[in-house]
Amino acid sequence: MNSNTNSQIKNNHNKTGNFFLDVKKGLDSNPKRLSSKYFYDEVGDRLFQKIMAMPEYYLTQCELDIFQNKTADIANLIGFDNTPFDLIELGAGDAMKSTYLLKYMIDKGLDFTYMPIDISGNILSVLDQKLKKEIPDLKVTQLEGEYFQMLNKAASLSSRRKVILFLGGNIGNMELEEANAFCIGLKDHLNPGDRILIGFDLKKNPHTILNAYNDATGITAAFNLNLLTRINKELNADFNIEQFQHYQTYDPVSGACRSYLVSLADQVVNIDHTEIIFKENELIDMEVSQKFSETDIKELAKKTGFEIDGEIKDSRKWFIDSVWKFK
Ligand code: AVI
Repeated sequence: MNSNTNSQIKNNHNKTGNFFLDVKKGLDSNPKRLSSKYFYDEVGDRLFQKIMAMPEYYLTQCELDIFQNKTADIANLIGFDNTPFDLIELGAGDAMKSTYLLKYMIDKGLDFTYMPIDISGNILSVLDQKLKKEIPDLKVTQLEGEYFQMLNKAASLSSRRKVILFLGGNIGNMELEEANAFCIGLKDHLNPGDRILIGFDLKKNPHTILNAYNDATGITAAFNLNLLTRINKELNADFNIEQFQHYQTYDPVSGACRSYLVSLADQVVNIDHTEIIFKENELIDMEVSQKFSETDIKELAKKTGFEIDGEIKDSRKWFIDSVWKFK
């Protein structure tokens, strides 16, 4: 057994430990809650792929529109002074959108190293193969692990200026306090003059937003319910999935789009010898997908010590990639 496999086992162990503690703590609180960061097991990943392909789920198309059609604008903002830099992508996955930017910047002769960070080593090696084939001149340093640990590693590997990409509207899956702390955490890993580019889903017609998360085909419902199935499988629990129902809300004033699971009966669920009691109609708070106004974005940047350097919207003006400079 090589050391890689060993550390993988240790990791999985820790992951199960944290998963159990987080689930227990969440279901002990009032209202009950579960963290959407646990949506993404193998089935969850597949369901999310399906969500991104749904006509109602506009977010992916919007940001793709920006990366495909406004590539030069992004490149000008992040490659502004022709100095060499490291382009770090948080949760790079298959880098579907950023590949357009990488190609463009290589064609323009910009000097940069692409550093994709992802928790999945498997995804990173698939990405590496893809990039070797599609952009052979691109310099890539893969960083497998948690965001902040890998940002430390990136800083130790090179002292070039840093540009961080955080795409997909993922910042919306944090409560506002958490988003604040996250941006401050990013700043702590950067130097003055460094940039971050964050994708924000904008407030828009509330029906458009609600439809994106309340699809008639039930894929988003399945995506939420799958977390109960995952808890059954991995934490020795006995949720009866039929006894829970997905419920989606959008509050156009605060911009919070929230998903819940509703207990359809008085019931008791066992999670590894712990009993959790549900009343009929009791909720589990599952996920927030926060929507932002341009003022909200300005305030977040200011509060966390950044200055907005430029903004690029898709053609419908539904999504924004905002580039911030560490003052
Ligand atoms: C990953 N994240 C940005 C998605 C979102 O829009 O909040 C997750 C998602 N949840 C339901 N549909 C998509």
